Amino acid sequence: MKNVVIFGATGSIGKSTIEYIKNNSDRFKIVGLTAKSKIKELQKLSETFKVPYIVVEKKEDAKDLKTSLSYQAQILWGDDGLKELASLEQIDIAVIGISGIKALIPTYYALKTGKRVAIANKECIISVGSFLKEVAKKSGADLLPVDSEHSAFFQLLQKEKKEYIEKLILTASGGPFYKTPLREFPKITPEEAISHPTWKMGKKISVDSATLMNKGFEVLEAMILFDFPLEKIEVVIHPQSLVHGIIKLLDGCYLMHVSPPDMKIPIAYALNYPERAEMQIKNIDLIQMKKLIFKKPSLKKFPCLKLAYKAGKLGGAYPLVLEAADEVVVSAFLDRKISFDKIPYFLEKTLNEFKIPSINFKNIYETLGLHQRVCEFTENLIKKS
Ligand SMILES: NC(=O)c1ccc[n+]([C@@H]2O[C@H](COP(=O)([O-])OP(=O)(O)OC[C@H]3O[C@@H](n4cnc5c(N)ncnc54)[C@H](OP(=O)(O)O)[C@@H]3O)[C@@H](O)[C@H]2O)c1
Repeated sequence: MKNVVIFGATGSIGKSTIEYIKNNSDRFKIVGLTAKSKIKELQKLSETFKVPYIVVEKKEDAKDLKTSLSYQAQILWGDDGLKELASLEQIDIAVIGISGIKALIPTYYALKTGKRVAIANKECIISVGSFLKEVAKKSGADLLPVDSEHSAFFQLLQKEKKEYIEKLILTASGGPFYKTPLREFPKITPEEAISHPTWKMGKKISVDSATLMNKGFEVLEAMILFDFPLEKIEVVIHPQSLVHGIIKLLDGCYLMHVSPPDMKIPIAYALNYPERAEMQIKNIDLIQMKKLIFKKPSLKKFPCLKLAYKAGKLGGAYPLVLEAADEVVVSAFLDRKISFDKIPYFLEKTLNEFKIPSINFKNIYETLGLHQRVCEFTENLIKKS
């Protein structure tokens, strides 16, 4: 039996993980759950599984939960709560489904204490992925990607020597505006932007998918996770979301990873690795499918993709700067403070104008501080505009 903690239990990744574990309770046990704002939902989940450790963001929520919970549990709060839970000895696997850079705290401490970390969060990888890999190597922890594309690459790359690989090809669904003319972009509403055609995800990543910033982040994630040169990573639009990753080998072969678009598949892979377990999931009807579609992404319509390559080429803290700016810009768009077409404008301006100070990236609190400063810088740019 593996003891699992789910960081970000009330989110899309968190709920998919809980659903998977519910159906596989003979092998996995939920021993910890965390959430930020959906406290009632967290309480309900905790009651269902009688979870012994719970972490919330605010002290008041922790107090309220303590009085309303029908059983005895250890209820922690804040950054220290995340650290304590991630460091507990009895945990085997930490699933990182928190959105945003705050996920760095549980990710770092779970890796430092040698746990398996099944990471969906991309903000941490983009910001300090190389450092996190070092931490994992030192403690003997496993850092396994849950993002479907990186899970696909992780699976494909195990079978081939790195020197045989010419290219990593990431697939993007194209999001909801792949066919929308550019002139209509200023009118796009948050409601339209979060209705993704193939995946059901949190709001932030849904907007990132609509701008293709998400795909740009995935390019950076692949570069960092697999130590692969940026110029050898490509993106193609694949609206069916069935092929999640392609590797092109030097002998002309292409290996594709194909699965139904369901996050429970990469989650289950990361939980069960190196084993595989049967999944109750609808099969792909190959005969019905008839063809697989691939198209070139338009960088004119989706300049965020170009910005990711730019940040990756600049290296150092630039990917972090782009990621931090994006958290602010997407939130401003969701709050209707800026229009959809202005998202790349503010990202590029931050990338060009933010002066990166020298910091120690091996200190996660310094990294979080830098992230905060970039966020404030972008907030000011938006206010001034
Ligand atoms: N969804 C997907 O299919 C998918 C696929 C690949 C990668 N990812 C990545 O996985 C991560 C999660 O995505 P999601 O779609 O599941 O997001 P989501 O639905 O918005 O859920 C985010 C979760 O994180 C918690 N949270 C947010 N900010 C927090 C903070 N400052 N401190 C503590 N907890 C916090 C939320 O708590 P409350 O709800 O209680 O506020 C919620 O449980 C993101 O990094 C995303 O890029 C997601």
